[in-house]
Parts: sequence; structure tokens; C-alpha cells
Amino acid sequence: MQQATAIAHPNIALIKYWGKRDIRLNLPAVGSLSITLDALSTRTRVCFDSTLGSDSFILDGVGADARRITACLDLLREAARIDTRARVESSNDFPTAAGLASSASGFAALVVAADAALGLGLPADMLSMHARLGSGSAARSIFGGFVEMARGSRQDGTDAVARPLLAADAWPLEVVIAITECDAKALASSAAMTATSESAPFYAAWVRSSRPDLRAARQAVLARDFDALADVSVHSCLKMHAVMMSARPPVMYWNAATVACVRCLTALREAGLPVFYTIDAGPQVKAICQPEACDAVEHALRSIPGVAELRRSGLGGAAHVVEGAA
Ligand code: PMV
Repeated sequence: MQQATAIAHPNIALIKYWGKRDIRLNLPAVGSLSITLDALSTRTRVCFDSTLGSDSFILDGVGADARRITACLDLLREAARIDTRARVESSNDFPTAAGLASSASGFAALVVAADAALGLGLPADMLSMHARLGSGSAARSIFGGFVEMARGSRQDGTDAVARPLLAADAWPLEVVIAITECDAKALASSAAMTATSESAPFYAAWVRSSRPDLRAARQAVLARDFDALADVSVHSCLKMHAVMMSARPPVMYWNAATVACVRCLTALREAGLPVFYTIDAGPQVKAICQPEACDAVEHALRSIPGVAELRRSGLGGAAHVVEGAA
């Protein structure tokens, strides 16, 4: 038996990925930029066992569909020239599939654990490429801190990989997450992306305008320019949700508390607090703050009706092996 356990952290996109240029290879239609959160994590154990007839997957203690896991593991099996099936057990210390990027940390942890179990020692960009097949955003969770994911232009996807942009401790921002709904989301991001690209009249404009957003965000991160990063991140977030809402039928992830949090954080920023927000494929609101603003932001969000829970996180954490190897 070959086994290993890895931990990976979810990431939050400041410049959003939404839409695919190739569905089979999961190639993004746009580049993206994210921050990896050190306080939330997925722990995944992969055990290749020659007695198994198929891959099995247990998520948070419950048997789950292993198809996407198999697609990802097949790449690593191919690299290792083996056909052995695996038992995968994964757990999250935060709500699963609720817009908190559990698929990002999940597939990053899977690939890193499988790589270690098979003794492959693949370079980080290859791990990122393999994680991408499970979930586009997972490619970014291989790395910690500020991460940029390239759209790439090659058909085979070898250039659609993430790379670290700036280390977490080079600009220690913090994130307060307002959880407004703990249940799994109604519509998975892949289906929602397809609906958007097929029917939203603004989709082409979304794709076209993402490149300058990415450039502006990259410059803002490298210059540690909080206001510039805030402006372009909020723009990218609202533009992504606007294009989703323009799909037919519309894709709408927000609830009343989501809107209340947005209003609250907008008012705090207008009052001079260094904070801005972003929202992914779910109703949770992530407030990105300079450290000195965190307490006030947490206090303000706590009083909003519908905010069920608050989580706080710094940036950090590349995916890493915690136990075992071949
Ligand atoms: O990686 P996926 O397929 O779960 O899609 C992620 C989509 C967003 O979280 C909304 C945006 C992003 O770039 O992470």
C-alpha cells in the first residue's frame, strides 16, 4: 500500500475565474488572482491499494461520488505508470460546497497527497495543472499567499497553471468571512458557468474585460496598494455576479444577508476603514482587511441579521504533505 496525507487551504479569488475555454480539460476562459487562507483547511488521505476494484471517496465521513477524484488520480497514475485504485478520505474544518472554496482545497490536497503516496515528486506547476482538472480554482491552492492563475493559450492546458505572486508575509492582509448559509449551495459552479457562457448576453464582455482587471490587480499586489486592489477586486466580483444574473435562467447566489454585508462593508470603506469585499459562488461574504481594521469589521458584520458565523483568517499556507509517503 502506498499512502500519504496532505493539507491544503482554500483560496479566495480577488480577480475572478468564471467560464471555461475547454470543458473537458477544465481550462479557464480568463486568468485569475487569489489569496490563500491559512485558517481553513482540508485534510486528505490517499491510499493506493491493489485489492480495490475502483476508487472510493469519503468526504466528511460520508461516501461521495468519486468520478472527479478518479479523473484527477488518473493523471498521477499515468505519471507513475500504475493502475492501482485508491481510497480517498477527506475532511474540511469549514462548511463544504457552500461557496467557501472547499473544492479548491480538496483537489489541491488530493493531488499533493497522491503525488507523495506514489513518490512522484512532481514540480509545483505540474501539481497545479493536475489539481485544475478537479476544479479550476484548485490550481491556485497549491500555493500560499497571493497567487495568479494564467488563462493560458495552449490547447493541451500545459500553460493554464497557477504561480505564486507574492508571499503571504510580504503583505499580511486578513480576511473576515461572514457565513450567511451553512448548507451546500443549490447550483455547482461548473453548471453555473456553463449556463452563463451559453446564455448571458454580457459573457463576451466579461471575458474581454478580465485581462485589464488582472493586470491592475497584479500591479496593486506587487505595489501593496490596498485601495487599487480594493477597487479592481470589487469590480471583478460584481461584474462576475452581474454576468451570472444575466444568464437565462439567472444564476443568483446572494441572499438578504449577503446584500446587507456588502452595504455594511461599503459604508465602512467610505468611512475610511481599509476593507473591501468579495463573494464567490455562494452567499458568503469575504471581507479583506488591513490588520488594524479587522476588529471593527468583525464587530460590524456580527450585528447583521442572517450572519450565522464569522471566521477570521490570515494569508498563508501552500498545500503540503503531513504524513507518509511511498
Ligand atoms: O473552481 P470552481 O469550479 O469551483 O470555480 C470557482 C469560481 C469562483 O469561486 C466563483 C471564482 C474563482 O476564481 O474562484
